[in-house]
Amino acid sequence: MGSPGFNLCATTLFVLSFLISFFLSQTGTQAAPTYVYHDCQNTTTFTANSTYQSNLNRLLASFTSNANRSTGFYNTTVSSGNSVDTVYGIFLCRGDLSTDACRDCAADTTKDVVDRCPNQKVVVAWYDECMLRYSNQNIFSRMVMDPNVLLTNTGNISEPNRFGLLVRTTMDELASGVSNLGPGAKKFGAKEANFTALQKLYTLLQCTADLSGSDCHWCLMVAIMNVVDCCGGRIGARALFPSCNARFEIYPFYQPQNTSAPTPSTPALVPPPPVSVTAPEGKNKISTATIAAIVVPIAASVVFFILGYIFIIRRRKYSAVKGENDAINDMTTVESLQFDFATIEAATNKFSNDNKLGQGGFGVVYKV
Ligand SMILES: *[C@@H]1O[C@H](CO)[C@@H](O)[C@H](O)[C@H]1NC(C)=O
Ligand SMILES: *[C@@H]1O[C@H](CO)[C@@H](O)[C@H](O)[C@H]1NC(C)=O
Ligand SMILES: *[C@@H]1O[C@H](CO)[C@@H](O)[C@H](O)[C@H]1NC(C)=O
Ligand SMILES: *[C@@H]1O[C@H](CO)[C@@H](O)[C@H](O)[C@H]1NC(C)=O
Ligand SMILES: *[C@@H]1O[C@H](CO)[C@@H](O)[C@H](O)[C@H]1NC(C)=O
Ligand SMILES: *[C@@H]1O[C@H](CO)[C@@H](O)[C@H](O)[C@H]1NC(C)=O
Ligand SMILES: *[C@@H]1O[C@H](CO)[C@@H](O)[C@H](O)[C@H]1NC(C)=O
Repeated sequence: MGSPGFNLCATTLFVLSFLISFFLSQTGTQAAPTYVYHDCQNTTTFTANSTYQSNLNRLLASFTSNANRSTGFYNTTVSSGNSVDTVYGIFLCRGDLSTDACRDCAADTTKDVVDRCPNQKVVVAWYDECMLRYSNQNIFSRMVMDPNVLLTNTGNISEPNRFGLLVRTTMDELASGVSNLGPGAKKFGAKEANFTALQKLYTLLQCTADLSGSDCHWCLMVAIMNVVDCCGGRIGARALFPSCNARFEIYPFYQPQNTSAPTPSTPALVPPPPVSVTAPEGKNKISTATIAAIVVPIAASVVFFILGYIFIIRRRKYSAVKGENDAINDMTTVESLQFDFATIEAATNKFSNDNKLGQGGFGVVYKV
């Protein structure tokens, strides 16, 4: 038989310790990153305790110690032993994160990813706050859009056509600003727009910092086309590629105060000069410059339209992500896009070589 005094004391202690642990859990720990999606090719695996494993462990540890860089981007190579054991890695934080939040994301996701992809050599994993990627192949400065995933919020918006158009115009403008940020800069931007008096649109675009401006622009255009085509009538969607991502919602999912939208400034953003089709007085010849000004954007439009068409028709089956993670249970996978990477690579190399990208052909291409 315990005395009433003892019971009171025990109860008080219990309540106190409960309150203390509750308080600590609220303030002492950072919220864990929200898992979104991952892809591991289980065709390439390594054996436990191999050289590849130890290289990978060093790579993942270096993500955490270097995630405090101002760009939120880090790429590294770890090699020891045979060159087949070399691991290449990229870590990218969402552009509005503080360096502390970025480091926390690295610390948590580098642990999480090895549980999701044990013994996998080639991995991409996306979280709300950061993305990480590693491979046994060099993955730097290459625009890669496969594997990918398109996710949509299942809620519908009123006036879907006007909303889809607003998403497209807001993101197109933002994409130009983001891809024009200098080499090695944080290639990130977020932009708001008013939809109705009460509803706002929030958009975010980001490329990995190792991409060239034209590769970044191309990747973002494909991402934007996909989110608008599938989900312009929904209240939110995102396209996740290894090299870039696009997301829109009707609530602020980033910290607007930590975000300065890149200002359009470089020549690629200046609208192309008006093209006069009528010959000037006293001259019948249209200059080659004029012809080029007419032909190049049209040719570019045709190429992009065809490529865009290829992306749209090659849709894979739907697979629901629902239930895999409570935090995104309002999101569902719409589709996983597949396309011929060689075609894109050829097209983009060609276009970046003669530097014709950003001449204004883009806006037209995707207006279907
Ligand atoms: C990958 O692993 C899953 C489950 O372990 C298996 O069902 C699938 O066939 C594997 N795919 C390949 C390409 O090996
Ligand atoms: C790998 O090493 C750990 C600890 O060093 C050991 O516990 C484990 O059994 C080893 N696994 C294999 C497959 O050798
Ligand atoms: C990042 O953190 C490491 C220690 O973890 C420190 O040595 C380095 O100076 C920091 N870099 C920056 C840019 O803050
Ligand atoms: C990071 O990527 C660049 C290319 O964008 C490459 O030149 C550099 O060697 C990479 N850094 C490391 C440490 O691998
Ligand atoms: C935004 O910036 C402030 C101050 O720099 C920082 O305390 C806060 O954590 C940042 N927010 C995020 C999401 O990183
Ligand atoms: C949204 O619209 C689609 C197609 O119009 C419909 O299938 C879906 O059930 C709607 N979703 C909601 C949450 O109303
Ligand atoms: C949205 O509307 C508010 C007034 O309701 C205005 O102050 C703000 O500038 C508008 N934002 C944009 C991006 O147009």
